[in-house]
Amino acid sequence: MIKQAIIPLAGLGTRLLPLSSVIPKELLPINGKPGIQYILDECIDAGIKEIILIISKKKIMIKNYFFNDKFYNKIIKKKKDPRIKQEYKKILRYRKLIKFVYQNKPLGTGHAVLKTKNLIKDKFFLMLLPDDLIIKKNCSKSMIQLNKRYHSSVMASLKVKKSDVTRWGIYKFKKKIDKKNFFIDDVIEKPSLKKAPSNRAVIGRYILPKKIFSKLVKQKPGKGGEIHITDAIQSLIYDNEKFIAHNFSGKYLDCGSMKGYINSSKEISKL
Ligand code: G1P
Repeated sequence: MIKQAIIPLAGLGTRLLPLSSVIPKELLPINGKPGIQYILDECIDAGIKEIILIISKKKIMIKNYFFNDKFYNKIIKKKKDPRIKQEYKKILRYRKLIKFVYQNKPLGTGHAVLKTKNLIKDKFFLMLLPDDLIIKKNCSKSMIQLNKRYHSSVMASLKVKKSDVTRWGIYKFKKKIDKKNFFIDDVIEKPSLKKAPSNRAVIGRYILPKKIFSKLVKQKPGKGGEIHITDAIQSLIYDNEKFIAHNFSGKYLDCGSMKGYINSSKEISKL
């Protein structure tokens, strides 16, 4: 069973400027709740017992959000408001599960993952990218079930417009398992329209094998000079590591772009 999850949070969030210039984008409210809490709730509901948050010194506010006891204790004593007590209790519950590591230079998702190398215990772990919210069905939970059944790495996937392939990791499938799941035999980070092997994109939920660290330590910078997790995954696939692409059933909300961020509050308020 997968017990550990990691969440890279050290990105600059430039697509959400000016909102993210002072406040880390993951603390921005989505329908009255910070985006990061949706991701943590997905992990908890999927049975995850430890969540490693990869932050940077610039985003220390994320840590402060979970460690603000003095403030809460004072206000609870003064106001005796049961709602505040309830919210503080939730924060304390998250706190039992979270750990922090630092990635002070935004050198890519692969570089962020490498920072957790000494903390990962089991053969597989879960990674969630906080820009990608998936509502209505717990995608992590479904992926954990697939991992259990096939002893395979898994990535969430979605068909995108052919003209949009340059924005995503794009994969090529080898064998259909069923309507929603495929074994894949290649993945390319943000390919050109010409080089894209399909219009099937990787979305920000991954079950990765611990052995990815042996690839990441020697991974050279790729697209845009960053160390991409996609490139390390490609290298593992070429070594015959099994990877499943899972077409999730929930609804995808892209909270990393301004349009998507605004839309996500609207969609969640309808639930
Ligand atoms: C990252 C990955 C990309 C994936 C995407 C999903 O890109 O590198 O392969 O398709 O997440 O959201 P980023 O959003 O960091 O540019």
